[in-house]
Amino acid sequence: MHNFRLVYLNGEFMPPERAMVSAFDRGFVFGDGVYEVIPVFGRRLFRLPHHLARLSHSLTEVRLPNPLSARQWEEVLTRLIEAIPADDQSVYLQITRGPAPRDHAFPADVQPTVFAYAQPSKPAAPEVLAQGISTVTVADIRWLRCDIKATALLANAMLRQQAADRGAVEALLIRDGMVTEGAASNIFVVRGGALYTAPNGPFILPGITRDLVLELAHAHAIPAHEQSLPESALFDAEEIWITSSMREILPVTRLNDRAVGSGKPGPLHARVYALYQDYKRVITAVASNGSSK
Ligand code: PDD
Repeated sequence: MHNFRLVYLNGEFMPPERAMVSAFDRGFVFGDGVYEVIPVFGRRLFRLPHHLARLSHSLTEVRLPNPLSARQWEEVLTRLIEAIPADDQSVYLQITRGPAPRDHAFPADVQPTVFAYAQPSKPAAPEVLAQGISTVTVADIRWLRCDIKATALLANAMLRQQAADRGAVEALLIRDGMVTEGAASNIFVVRGGALYTAPNGPFILPGITRDLVLELAHAHAIPAHEQSLPESALFDAEEIWITSSMREILPVTRLNDRAVGSGKPGPLHARVYALYQDYKRVITAVASNGSSK
């Protein structure tokens, strides 16, 4: 079923078929847990400290202790990556509150369940980058703590499925008339040559790729604003992109069956995508020379 052969569960490394958790685990019963997805480029964890900082935020907000130190996380994830020959991978990790008799309030004595694995990943196909992706706008029906990377993703799954039902690859979410983020991505809109993305806060996940795009924009004097835009701003945008760890920066060329901008990936996408790929190359080269990341 899977093309990966090693997973980490509660302090042990084992083949996936041996990884079993209680049916009473609160992750299973309530979706009571948090997670991270971390990209690996050139066998190196990309922006690990940023992902671990976001993990800490999620854990603190749901009142779970971090089961591992930063150093222990790095050791566990490195061992999972080493077991796979592919240079580019994605790492998934999650912590749930653990098994307990069903009661909504947090149980007093419970051992969290800690799970992680790595799998090979592929960059976006050249034709996807050349053509861009198709999206639809959908009402953002999620809760008011979208800043927590919670494993309870039913709303996100329903939203992405609505996009799939309409032949699109991502749903662009609208809350109270304003653009928030994608079902599993952040959104950038180009207007007047400037970048716009929703501000961090309860309505979006603080994306690590989003942060890096903003950093690169600032470093290269590309105007960028963390500012909410109304839905209408999507329909006459010059460009729209979605960002996520595994999809990187994808140009959106169709929205609700109509062309975005020229209908082709735009020039600012090409520029920022190149800056992002350069950044990846430099970081990966520095890391494999043995210097610090
Ligand atoms: N999702 N917003 C949401 C709701 C997300 O689920 C994601 C990523 C992002 C982008 O965050 P980042 O750049 O840190 O990957 C924004 C991951 C990849 C997932 O659930 O698979």
